[in-house]
Amino acid sequence: MIYNNSSGENMRKITDLKLEGKTVIVRVDYNVPIKEGMVADDNRIKQSLETINYLIEKKCKIILLSHLGKVKTKEDLEKNTLKPVKIVLEKLLNKKILFSEELKGVEIEEKIKMLKSGDIILLENTRHMDYPDKLESNCDENLSKYWSTLGEIFIMDAFGSAHRAHASTVGIAKYLPSAAGFLVIKEIDKLKEIKNENKTLLLGGAKVSDKIGVIKNLINTANYVIIGGAMCGTFLKIKGYNVGKTFVDNEKDEYIKDLVNNYEHKIILPVDVMTENGEKSINEINDDETIYDIGTETIKIFNEYLSSAKLVLTNGTMGLYEDQKYEKGTKYTLKCLYDNDIKTIVCGGDTASAVKKFGYNFYYISTGGGASLEYLSGEKLPGLEVLGE
Ligand code: 3PG
Repeated sequence: MIYNNSSGENMRKITDLKLEGKTVIVRVDYNVPIKEGMVADDNRIKQSLETINYLIEKKCKIILLSHLGKVKTKEDLEKNTLKPVKIVLEKLLNKKILFSEELKGVEIEEKIKMLKSGDIILLENTRHMDYPDKLESNCDENLSKYWSTLGEIFIMDAFGSAHRAHASTVGIAKYLPSAAGFLVIKEIDKLKEIKNENKTLLLGGAKVSDKIGVIKNLINTANYVIIGGAMCGTFLKIKGYNVGKTFVDNEKDEYIKDLVNNYEHKIILPVDVMTENGEKSINEINDDETIYDIGTETIKIFNEYLSSAKLVLTNGTMGLYEDQKYEKGTKYTLKCLYDNDIKTIVCGGDTASAVKKFGYNFYYISTGGGASLEYLSGEKLPGLEVLGE
């Protein structure tokens, strides 16, 4: 049976498949913050438990796949390991879990052969296959086929990665009977409720080029697009300000110019910021300074827009909120949304961690950042599209 939700996606559900005793590959999203070798926020791991427990009940043998961060260098291989996730998962499930450092080859095949009903094996970060050849991120055909031979069924439960057409999301699904897990189903059901409502966007974070398409899709129906955090450097630079050493993403310059020129009345940018040398107007940033947070005047302006909004979609923080010196922008914009009881959808791991840190609660906290934004802006998510084929 095909799951047909009101926004048009066709995807099979986990409950539509006969799973008893099968070896099931589950793509989860354990791209979680790691600090000093430990998981700093286990929300995404907790959210994967419903599907895993269901498969245990069905006496399946479970193979878990996930990425963690980007793997571009040899050093990233060691740094971006899922070993800390295994420890958290074992605690949450109260169960021993096998781990395979290999993502291909005899070792992993032998380990999978030895699995008994209800056993779980977590494979190392799928993006280890990105070094040196980007096999995972380029959805390499041979890798996708190989991974699919490890199991009999594929469950896609990595909602946060559903916008990525990678070997472990789209690739495997092409070769195995596949369906959406409980987290994906929950996320889509919740997000589709607000898909067509007018929104104010509060955007930060660093993945600028990922978000430009989303802004373009939503700008006509959005009330305002408020931009702070690591994103604002790129926008301020395009407007001609010196942003010093602040990160600037040049990938989509032309699109950003276009947005800034045509929608100036809707795109709200900071007027002051926090640098390592304190608060500065955006005219006063020196070459050797970096923007770490939005400033006091900007918080006031942003909060005026936010407090009168009906529905706010927020993704990315307003600054380096983990550092008390630079937490104000994130803290006080979230506080404004909370105090004014604004219907708020929080999209993404970092934003959700900030919400947790400051102790607020909102209408909906999605595990997806880019995935939620793309879905809400009307883009099709390749990781879900393939589940209807
Ligand atoms: C996320 O955190 O948004 C998802 O896990 C996707 O991660 P990515 O942007 O590194 O693909």
